[in-house]
Amino acid sequence: MNSLKDLFHPRGIAVVGASKDPTKIGHIILKNIVEYGYKGGIYPVNPTVSEVMGLKSYPAVSTISDKVDVVVVSVPNVKVLDVIDDAGKAGVKHAVVIASGFKEVGNIELENELVRRARRYGMRVLGPNIFGYVYTPERLNATFGPRDVIPGNVAFITQSGALGIALMGSTILEGIGISAIVSVGNKSDIDDADLLEFFDEDPNTSVVLIYMEGVSDGKRFVNVASKISMRKPVVVIKSGRTEAGARAAASHTGSLAGNVLLYETAFKQGGVLSAKSVEEAFDFVKTLSWNPLPHGERVVVITNGGGAGVQASDTLADDGIHLEKPPQDFVEEVKKIVPPFASLANPVDLTGMAPEDWYYRSVKLAVQNPEIDAVLILYCHTALTSPVGVAKAVSKAIEEAGVSKPVSVAIIGGMEAYEAIRYLTSIRIPAYPTPERAAHALAAQLKYRRYREYLMKKEHLINKSS
Ligand code: ACO
Repeated sequence: MNSLKDLFHPRGIAVVGASKDPTKIGHIILKNIVEYGYKGGIYPVNPTVSEVMGLKSYPAVSTISDKVDVVVVSVPNVKVLDVIDDAGKAGVKHAVVIASGFKEVGNIELENELVRRARRYGMRVLGPNIFGYVYTPERLNATFGPRDVIPGNVAFITQSGALGIALMGSTILEGIGISAIVSVGNKSDIDDADLLEFFDEDPNTSVVLIYMEGVSDGKRFVNVASKISMRKPVVVIKSGRTEAGARAAASHTGSLAGNVLLYETAFKQGGVLSAKSVEEAFDFVKTLSWNPLPHGERVVVITNGGGAGVQASDTLADDGIHLEKPPQDFVEEVKKIVPPFASLANPVDLTGMAPEDWYYRSVKLAVQNPEIDAVLILYCHTALTSPVGVAKAVSKAIEEAGVSKPVSVAIIGGMEAYEAIRYLTSIRIPAYPTPERAAHALAAQLKYRRYREYLMKKEHLINKSS
């Protein structure tokens, strides 16, 4: 089996089924490859035309004299095997099979034959039944999804096509930077574990997000996940949790969704953070990819509203994080800022009359204090302050603190609060519209820290005994 290096760093990429018709998938994929800025060789393959988008079109992959590492196959299912034979004989190492009409509709033999043929040539198969893949460090967008993915450090593996494409768009809206997006569809050959092995080694990826309906080799997935989780967090949205969901997954990608408890246990063993919804997963990804790893679990909550503080405390407690009294030197300094009736236990309540400057000074003190590991900042919009003003005060405090520490911010209110959240996420400070979401996302980071320590200890013990 060859590694996936050439899939993500191809010297040349051929698109079989590249049509002049702008409504066809093969055309859109070619357009995205060209327009997103891929610098390797781009080769449309279509015997019925001489050029597509100004690029010479080839009648078959085997007629291309330059090096082609990846072939994107966008012709109907019945034509795929011939393309695999042709590309395989030409020495192509990866086939990205877009076509549907395989295992997901009961065409198991066609899918098995696809993998058999590919193996004959030492070729790996991504798909079938997929929308393609993206790798931003190579400016490669070989999908029929949105073009302008934001480059960043999150790799996103998705078993669902349409949902995956929609989520590609959501990452742009949410300001989440992407290293890779991989549609895995039926996972006939390349699966989550193969990709995790690649992303473990990939210097451009620091967090992996997976939308999963099922895995065929659970043991291998856990082994690989527990290795990568010692270095990089993995978040999984496991769908098909209910009987109805499992039935839907079976007809979608032909996956066996399996017992939910089994999956939850396996995820824990592999150090994987499980998310129940897309919203929760995106919330986790923001803290995990934008914050540094926390040194410990001493969280201080700074708020201007008692209720928001209570909600955040409850959420943290539900997640196993218990708030302790803040360090005395921090309390003494905050006392100099706030009125005498402010409650300075944890949560630290700056009171409803807190202006931007109190946020600036108290957040800076918290970030700088070595006895505090993470800071949760809550702000309820009052007429005394502007949410964007508070957001700017918070970001200034974090920037000037001179220490990198995990933070999470809730800006609670209407339209102006939304603008403040957009401002903070644009500068990669995790910000949310409710105290619960901000607290839960921060807790995910602390949970990951625990998982990581457990996995590292376990590995240390295994190494010692062997
Ligand atoms: N080599 C090269 N080109 C060929 C070959 C061949 N062997 N055979 C045909 N072509 C050309 C065709 O002539 C056509 O070009 P033209 O427009 O110039 O005539 C082009 O390749 C495409 O072939 P079509 O037969 O027109 O196929 P079409 O583009 O309509 O559909 C597709 C192909 C997209 C693969 C379709 O069969 C399919 O499976 N669609 C579903 C894809 C999908 O949903 N994927 C799942 C995940 S994504 C999600 O869920 C949103």
